[in-house]
Amino acid sequence: MISVNTKPFRLRVDSIGKGVTGIISSGRIAVTDSVKILPAAQNTKISALVCNGQNVDAAEIGQTVELFLDSSAGIEVGAVICARDNPVEAADQFEVHINWQAKEPLLAGRPYIFQFGNLQASGSVTNIKYKLQGNKQTHLAATTLEAGEHCVATISIQQQVAFTPYQEDNPLGSFNITEHDNGNLLGVGKIEFALRRASNIHRQALDLDRHAHAFQKKQKPCVLWLTGLSGSGKSTIANVLETQLHDQGRHTFLLDGDNVRHGLNRDLGFTDADRVENIRRISEVAKLMADAGLIVITSFISPFNSERQMARELMPDGEFFEIFIDAPLEVCEKRDEKGLYAKARAGQIKHFTGIDSAYEPPEKPEISIDTTRLSPDAAAIEIVEFLKEKDRLT
Ligand code: ADX
Repeated sequence: MISVNTKPFRLRVDSIGKGVTGIISSGRIAVTDSVKILPAAQNTKISALVCNGQNVDAAEIGQTVELFLDSSAGIEVGAVICARDNPVEAADQFEVHINWQAKEPLLAGRPYIFQFGNLQASGSVTNIKYKLQGNKQTHLAATTLEAGEHCVATISIQQQVAFTPYQEDNPLGSFNITEHDNGNLLGVGKIEFALRRASNIHRQALDLDRHAHAFQKKQKPCVLWLTGLSGSGKSTIANVLETQLHDQGRHTFLLDGDNVRHGLNRDLGFTDADRVENIRRISEVAKLMADAGLIVITSFISPFNSERQMARELMPDGEFFEIFIDAPLEVCEKRDEKGLYAKARAGQIKHFTGIDSAYEPPEKPEISIDTTRLSPDAAAIEIVEFLKEKDRLT
């Protein structure tokens, strides 16, 4: 016997076979009911329902059900099927409550996977608004979140997600945060509400696209991403490389850590959170410059794999080259051209890369330059030769 249930019908699609399967998270559904599919905003009707291998006329909250629909337009894993006259919303930016569980702290700007049921979407925490502490849930300013801590934050997802606020429907308003590469659980979250900004900011279609800019410059734009320890020789090699390309008539631009930190990123320091934001901004700027048709060289320590991966993912395939400027810490420390290692060892500079802040060497760089073996000139020539081989300098 099905009990009376006045809440609207909602179900997130877990899998797609002959029908569409999921657990009803709210309300009830009956054959011939009209439903809406979000985020596609498609309308259809229920033609049949199967529970535990049996055809049924209706099903209700808590039951796993296979739905057969008149039309499967808009059906995908993670889509929400709901009552047509009381639909859920879809958005790509939310204010959320996060409970962090991982040993590594939560960092705003770092790419994570957000899981809504079986839907896995890339995204990031755009802003940690405040931490919640103690029984009184006192609001504390925060830039990172440690294991066991709670916060209110905003998140941005790279696709539209159908949802309800957690208060309305717990399963539809919850998500997991997992690590990009290995799927490890990092934290759990609850949606408070959607930020309207997502739907208010449209992309403006431009008459001149990136191909037009590149065509006029008669070159193939790309991003040459130099990474390595302070003192490894990034800036010197980047300089020589840019000069060589410029002398060959290429249109280039060099973004260098020390310079960018005087302007665009002058508000950022060297905590992990600030470095993530530093690299996020640089990645976006590098992408815009490549869109403008330029060969962009970036010279930043960029110590973390995830942000270098984020920079790569902003670019079309084959237009991002990670170049590891490889020099052992001892060598960089001995060079110590800016005297910073000595200061870091003396405890005068905190969070110094290689001393008390991590550097993750690239796992699969396109080019690796051993600076104990190659001069800056030779290193730049090797990079130019590599670009020729890859057909980037025609
Ligand atoms: S990154 O880690 O965020 O990529 P970035 O390349 O912009 O760093 O800046 C590194 C430069 O800032 C170094 O070459 C060095 O001159 C200077 N610097 C000052 N403090 C630090 C620090 N704590 N760690 C590393 N570099 C520092």
